[in-house]
Amino acid sequence: MEQTMRRIGVLTSGGDAPGMNAAIRAVVRAAVHHGVECVGIRRGFTGLINSDFIVMDAASVSGISRRGGTMLYSARSDEFRTEAGQEKAVATCKMLCLDGIVGIGGDGTFRGLHDLAQRGIAVVGIPGTIDNDISCSTYTIGYDTACNTALDAIDKLRDTMQSHERCSVVEVMGHNAGHLALNVGMGCGATTVLIPEKKIDLDRDVIEPIREARLVGRTHFMVIVAEGVGDTYEIAQRIKETTALDVRVTVLGHVQRGGAPTSRDRVAATYMGYNAVRLLLEGKTDRVVCVQNDDYVDYDITEALRMKKGIDEQAYKLLRELASVTIIPRSSSGS
Ligand code: F6P
Repeated sequence: MEQTMRRIGVLTSGGDAPGMNAAIRAVVRAAVHHGVECVGIRRGFTGLINSDFIVMDAASVSGISRRGGTMLYSARSDEFRTEAGQEKAVATCKMLCLDGIVGIGGDGTFRGLHDLAQRGIAVVGIPGTIDNDISCSTYTIGYDTACNTALDAIDKLRDTMQSHERCSVVEVMGHNAGHLALNVGMGCGATTVLIPEKKIDLDRDVIEPIREARLVGRTHFMVIVAEGVGDTYEIAQRIKETTALDVRVTVLGHVQRGGAPTSRDRVAATYMGYNAVRLLLEGKTDRVVCVQNDDYVDYDITEALRMKKGIDEQAYKLLRELASVTIIPRSSSGS
């Protein structure tokens, strides 16, 4: 391994995600293991502009893997998008003698890291977002925990919806991406799922599946809506008017971003954190660590940002197919 790194910084930026702490721990421990000092930059790129940092040693990250959120805080920085902001950030890197930066976040974070790379700072990004919308990676830190958190809530909702024979319209996060909604919809056996990647026709995509499910004997219905689709309350109103069902809306909101990370998130975060440090030690820069078919690989950030990630079409089709199958009640006299 080439070793030109003496001190690196680690930051989290954009929307937080469960597992970010496990990634921070892996970055710090991997750095220390290789004799590299580590500095935690607080509040993302805002912290880099304002020299808001803490020195991190191996002990400073003890016991954080199991915690949700990010111990380094997160922020979105408008100032960093300006020339002046980026110059201040580079000045901080120089002042702190940082040879490299590991940034954990989404596309916005990677764009910021790329800007730093253009100004001569070695950078590596780690995909951390509950939206799972980083195109170069099949998996992003936080996604599994968010899916499980949403499923847990929906299972509870299902109990009461079933008792009252209602229709539940559940809004999950995902401004531009429907991966979370689709996965959660599949997991809870939703009647239908609405995602921003698909042009929505309310009759075809909501009313019709409810009708089909009703025809085969269902008495309660679960409609999952990704927040980017539009006004969830309007969708609920439309269902009520067209079907005369008793409809209730639940917006799961930021609950999905919190909580203790699942083992999948902790493990992925650990591998990604370790690999990010390895890349810096190998003299690589402007890269993002990704998962592809269970392998940890890396891409050039610009290339990664250009890639497109479609939704799982098969899951979308399957979900609808399975929702309207006729269930023949078992005979109560049978054994
Ligand atoms: O983390 C991604 C995400 O959860 C999106 O799905 C959502 O639209 C957005 O963040 C909201 O983030 P905030 O409320 O922090 O701006």
